[in-house]
Amino acid sequence: MSNLIIENKEDTQLITINRPDKLNALNRATIAELGNAVKAADGDKSVKAIVITGSGTKAFVAGADISEFHDYNAEEAKELARNGHQQLFDLIENTETPVIAAINGFALGGGLELAMACHIRLASNNARMGLPEVSLGVIPGYGGTQRLAQLAGKGKAFELIFTAGMIQADEALQCGLVNHVTTPEELIPKSLKIAKKCAANSSVAISGAIRAVNAGYEEGVNGYETEINEFANCFTTEDFKEGTSAFLEKRKANFPGK
Ligand code: COA
Repeated sequence: MSNLIIENKEDTQLITINRPDKLNALNRATIAELGNAVKAADGDKSVKAIVITGSGTKAFVAGADISEFHDYNAEEAKELARNGHQQLFDLIENTETPVIAAINGFALGGGLELAMACHIRLASNNARMGLPEVSLGVIPGYGGTQRLAQLAGKGKAFELIFTAGMIQADEALQCGLVNHVTTPEELIPKSLKIAKKCAANSSVAISGAIRAVNAGYEEGVNGYETEINEFANCFTTEDFKEGTSAFLEKRKANFPGK
């Protein structure tokens, strides 16, 4: 049985993690399935943006599935974390397509790590976010130590991780962890609205922008150099010809996406 609900909303694919009785906790099967779904959507030219959310009103994702790993040894733990990075978290961060997290409740541990791997985050005003791993005797293992520090700063990351505390949506907005806060009813409509705005632009230029921004966070890679190369590459695309011609002809661009 699938752990996901996948719906196409015009140019956007809405992926809902659907294990509400376990607060959408990420077990290995869900991680693999979500990774495959994101990969498929990213490879589908008709999908211009992806929105990820959780089913029910209580949780986005309440973490990695604790029942699955509580008796793992260090080797198994390493394999779990490494697979998760490769199969899902790094995959999302490096898609060609914008990925938006619509955080509709608890986003804890692996749930917040999933949201942080997405390019843009919206939270409903009932959302609660945190990395409570140290309360279980472990540290975040799906990129949380890195991405929380990137988004909210090192001091905030240390505090959230050390205290295992949860913050509310307004505090998450204040520290840059989320881009927007909405009512629960407005969360998906507003996420789809942002997705639609992205979809109206050049998808090849957006994928270049994703690579350039991400390059700045990669060890040993010069983000400015990546930007220069990606900028130049845009000049070889049909989207660039269409975008600049449309501007000069005072009409709306209709990007072919290549
Ligand atoms: N892994 C596995 N199962 C989880 C889970 C997780 N991360 N989070 C919630 N669940 C399950 C619960 O075990 C429970 O299942 P059950 O009904 O079969 O017993 C169900 O989801 C509902 O959760 P419950 O704890 O009863 O809900 P609550 O409203 O009382 O509490 C939370 C909500 C989010 C505060 C609480 O579920 C929680 O602390 N979860 C773990 C958060 C965490 O530490 N995440 C990091 C993991 S590395």
